Amino acid sequence: MERLSRTVLVIFGLTGDLSKRKLLPALFHLARRGILPDGFRILGISRKGTTVADVISLVRDAVSRDAPEPGGPDGSRSRLEALARLEGMLSVLDMDISREGDYGLLARELDRIDATAGTPLNRLFYLAIPASLFGTVTARLGKKDINVRGPQGRDSRFLIEKPFGENLETARELIERLDRDFDESQIFRIDHYLAKETAQNILAFRFGNPLFRGSWNREHVRAIMISANEAIGIEGRTAFYERMGALRDLVQSHLLQLLALVTMRRPESMDSESIHRAKEELLARVVPPEPARMADETVRGQYETYRAETGKGDSMTETYAACRLSIDTDEWRGVPVLLRTGKMLREKVTEINVIFGDPGAEGCAKGEGTGDGAFGECNVLTIRIQPNEGIAVDLRIKKPGFDSLYDDVQLDYCYRADATAIPDAYERVLVDGMRGDRTLFASANEVLSCWRISNPILDAWKDPLFPLHVYGNGSAGPEAANALARAAGVEWLDETHLVCPVPRARS
Ligand code: BG6
Repeated sequence: MERLSRTVLVIFGLTGDLSKRKLLPALFHLARRGILPDGFRILGISRKGTTVADVISLVRDAVSRDAPEPGGPDGSRSRLEALARLEGMLSVLDMDISREGDYGLLARELDRIDATAGTPLNRLFYLAIPASLFGTVTARLGKKDINVRGPQGRDSRFLIEKPFGENLETARELIERLDRDFDESQIFRIDHYLAKETAQNILAFRFGNPLFRGSWNREHVRAIMISANEAIGIEGRTAFYERMGALRDLVQSHLLQLLALVTMRRPESMDSESIHRAKEELLARVVPPEPARMADETVRGQYETYRAETGKGDSMTETYAACRLSIDTDEWRGVPVLLRTGKMLREKVTEINVIFGDPGAEGCAKGEGTGDGAFGECNVLTIRIQPNEGIAVDLRIKKPGFDSLYDDVQLDYCYRADATAIPDAYERVLVDGMRGDRTLFASANEVLSCWRISNPILDAWKDPLFPLHVYGNGSAGPEAANALARAAGVEWLDETHLVCPVPRARS
């Protein structure tokens, strides 16, 4: 890996949920892997009198829940060493981010850190705070010139977390607001699904293997299905979730981004700009259901204990969302695209299924058969994002023997053997932020397209008469989502469709 430049990471929202769950553990793992460069500094912003010791204890709690990592060949350090290293890099500034005067304190602290380092460090600002505060914070940083790409080539970048707005209009406002103080090249909009290892493999798999190139289109693909099922509920985030719901939380962002990777044309090169251009072109052609088809082509659901859990007795917020989209390009016209996500479901699975087969045919023959229709039915290619990361293709084969009996087998590539080498998505986000590589971040145009696709669905769901399907906790989700798939001539693959289920024996 290339050497990372010397950076100060400024975390707004140091003790918030995101920082505790994702960011601080990711920093710990980077320290443990020995990836953080010497001279790397972390400045946490808090107004709760938080101390460095408090933060380290948060990290210790978060990572003590992890499975033990092997040390040794990958150079990972022991837990204690990594904690000590992190402690040495960390300082905390007590400031009120809504008070303009406090930004002078921040400017002085950053100057002090530069002086100690003996050089102007790159600045990476991580805004782990509600989007409603982005504008305030960035404007104030701008006013004090804290954000400027400064002396001796210092870079200054912003990592921001979704939601990037709550609909098309507010997203546009947010983008314009940030545009006033920053160049687009300084803004890194995080979509942590893009930083998941298997998601990164989508382009390599598609464009590095001529085997699939000729068949990756409407002539051969019957449907594209993307699922992000979660077993957890909303975990106490009532205020956030009541505003978001599943469509904004997962579909507008993560699932449409995955769809873009699966269906975009081959970029001219694999650099960030070309990849973004190809994704933007694709997303601009994704078509939501017609208003008259919304009831047939979208499903919203809510898990049965949601209202009691949140105390919102009449909440219409969806914890489950499914929809059928289409793509108006020569490659994909007419191919159903099915997306679904939900909380409190039977198990956590995020995967992409590309169903190869004759366009317009229905169902996929499975299990042993006699050969009738054994050829040309379906091949399912699964890109399993999590858990059991891997890529698998279901094939029909003839069973060995004198009779013409057919069966299903799977060819797979499973990451499990390399599991400890898989960096967590947030580790990747931080490293790319330090490197200034924007490939795995969402561009402004991508965000706007994703809202353009989602907005009509959200509008239709504002109608109080639009069905809200209540589904059992721990179930497979609302039956209506199955009907949605069947109407497209396919079925959602359930947990009987295994991908990389058992550890491989290592020779
Ligand atoms: C976040 C959503 O973006 O992704 C959460 O806000 C969701 O609601 C989470 O639980 C899922 O991420 P992962 O990495 O656990 O699949």
